[in-house]
Amino acid sequence: MSEPVVVLGVTGSIAAYKAADIASRLSKEGIVVHVVMTSAAERFITPLTLQTLSRHEVIRTTSADRPDWRPIHIELADKASLLLIAPASANVLAELAHGLAGHPLAEIALATRAPMLLAPAMNGNMWHHAATQNNVLTLKTRGAQFIGPAEGLLACGYEGVGRMAEPAEIVEAALSLLRA
Ligand SMILES: Cc1cc2nc3c(=O)[nH]c(=O)nc-3n(C[C@H](O)[C@H](O)[C@H](O)COP(=O)(O)O)c2cc1C
Repeated sequence: MSEPVVVLGVTGSIAAYKAADIASRLSKEGIVVHVVMTSAAERFITPLTLQTLSRHEVIRTTSADRPDWRPIHIELADKASLLLIAPASANVLAELAHGLAGHPLAEIALATRAPMLLAPAMNGNMWHHAATQNNVLTLKTRGAQFIGPAEGLLACGYEGVGRMAEPAEIVEAALSLLRA
């Protein structure tokens, strides 16, 4: 049987550096990891770090220009056993809930039939905002699974709900979805 493929979406959150640990842990489990970054994510962590730890080329917003006939988002959408987005920003949750497809990660989310696991990370007010909560409900209604966010001291200085779940927990949740 071929190895499971996790498409790991990374978005523009201070928690993006933890995606390196997630990519590394998944690779050590023998999972093929393809990282897809938003442009904002690149302000927080370099594609080089994620490329090295995932052992594959990182798909960036600019990757649409690659010299291959097959659009990369369709290739990855078809290959994925699981789409894991960690951290998932408020913005990406909104894009996914509304079916927007303005960059490779959003395109993959629309095109894939793989299960989706989302690990939100954001300021507590952003998380509790009715817009975000409606987006989460919409995504859950469509079958998306969520892990976190957890409570604690947030990087923005607030205390409350909004911390991304720990990488070990996220990887455990991903593995159990892959086994299901
Ligand atoms: C220092 C800093 C930290 C941020 N952390 C978060 C965060 O944890 N969650 C979030 O939803 N947005 C956060 N943002 C805002 C996002 O980066 C911004 O909404 C961006 O447009 C998200 O783009 P993306 O969803 O395409 O990755 C942060 C912005 C800055 C400057």
